[in-house]
Amino acid sequence: MGPLRLSAVQSSVQQQFCIETRPDPCGLVIFGASGDLAERKLFPALYRLRRNGFLPEKFFAVGMGRTPMTDDAFRDRVRAALGPASPNDAPLKTFLSSFYYQTGDYADPAAYKKLSDRLDELARSHHTRGNVLFYFSVPPTVYLPIVRCLGGVGLNRPKDAGSWRRIVVEKPFGRDLKSAEDLSEEIEKVFSDDQIYRIDHYLGKETVQNILVLRFANLLFEPLWNRRYIDHVQITVAETLGVGHRAGYFEQAGLLRDMFQNHLLQLLCVTAMEAPASFHACRVREEKVKVLRSLRPFRPDTLDRSAVHGQYGPGAIDGQPVKGYRQEPGVAPDSRRETFAAMKVYVDNWRWQGVPFYLRSGKRLPRRVSEIAIQFKHVPHLLFEPLRPQDLSPNVLLLRIQPEEGISVSFETKHPGPKLCMSLVTMDFNYESAFGEPPEAYERLFLDCMAGDQTLFTSKDWVRLSWKFLTPLLESWAETPPLPYEAGSWGPKAANALPAAEGYFWRNL
Ligand code: BG6
Repeated sequence: MGPLRLSAVQSSVQQQFCIETRPDPCGLVIFGASGDLAERKLFPALYRLRRNGFLPEKFFAVGMGRTPMTDDAFRDRVRAALGPASPNDAPLKTFLSSFYYQTGDYADPAAYKKLSDRLDELARSHHTRGNVLFYFSVPPTVYLPIVRCLGGVGLNRPKDAGSWRRIVVEKPFGRDLKSAEDLSEEIEKVFSDDQIYRIDHYLGKETVQNILVLRFANLLFEPLWNRRYIDHVQITVAETLGVGHRAGYFEQAGLLRDMFQNHLLQLLCVTAMEAPASFHACRVREEKVKVLRSLRPFRPDTLDRSAVHGQYGPGAIDGQPVKGYRQEPGVAPDSRRETFAAMKVYVDNWRWQGVPFYLRSGKRLPRRVSEIAIQFKHVPHLLFEPLRPQDLSPNVLLLRIQPEEGISVSFETKHPGPKLCMSLVTMDFNYESAFGEPPEAYERLFLDCMAGDQTLFTSKDWVRLSWKFLTPLLESWAETPPLPYEAGSWGPKAANALPAAEGYFWRNL
């Protein structure tokens, strides 16, 4: 792991302490370099890291893909993915000159022999000490062929004791418990667990990382962070987008696999976990695993009162008509894939016993918003008679993950005037006004794998337990069709019954 440096820096906000991640010199191989993820997220993230001086000076990237291409043609594609820039932009020129392309079939051992020779040559010319990061930005069906071919030419083994070889695996990691276990077992025949970085880009979001800082670097919140003071928690990840051109993938996956097995359950874990013994990967990851171990399993006889799935029909987003899921190109006209899911879960431990966590996520909902709302209990007694505690709005701590990244807390105040009137007001912290635009999740995650820090990556146990937890839903929803909802609405009406059973409503976003 790269050295950590503790330093005090002055910012415009306040005196601030930094633990800095310093990436090692390295080469990066991107499998699937002509794909959508590479163009939309990976290249722009690497470029921003370069511009901001975070990418190691000694660095090169090789795109590998089936499409034949020269280095220059590949550099043009990378360049195009970065958006407008001045033709004389010097950092851009240097950045592009460190990109190379290798044509090859992912399952062809001969292509890996060529890749290996090329990596040796580039390691020498770029002085990267033989460190290589292999990034799997490809469909999961080719993960194993790539892993085996890398192993076949010895690219899984570091050149010497001081260097490293790592792989970054995109989600989905398996499609159920069995396939995830099989995948882990096969990959571990070639790479050891400390070489495997299972990525969940939600963990790289500044606002998600900040939940740990908010909870464990402040005294204010942690004493209240339990069943004694918290009434319930709502976690929402809503999107206005439909499946777009990803029907091929989505028809196989569905919303539960696409969003819950990873992002939603990770958000639940960072909210519910205990304080780790230290801020080190294994300590942080072990606390998150404990949350999954404490989740109350779904029971077949009460499943429909614990979870609801839906599929969007035609409707309107921002006043514009949009198609239903079944009318999207590439979707079967009788598809049963869910595009919305909501559930109520309980964390059965001393901290959270009896506190419901309501989770929901869907495509074609009215707003793009990801947030965690922590709703506190009513005051135990209200001295301002004739008001009763339940007449006042309880405090809500809102962690806004995106957009308008920030944190707010609502509380009652006395409305000015001779009478005793109360008003609910909000104290608000906004990331952008305090710190400027937050960096993209992939920037941080790239640096961490170059520095050997797995804290923000998903552990093997976590993957296994998340699939195990969702298995009853996966099995039941394979048999029961999703409930329809209109595009632009908040999902099927039946989802309202989840919080309504305890007398609550979904937050009106
Ligand atoms: C991806 C899912 O992991 O996350 C997509 O596959 C989803 O379906 C995306 O749209 C949402 O990410 P973000 O960062 O836009 O909230």
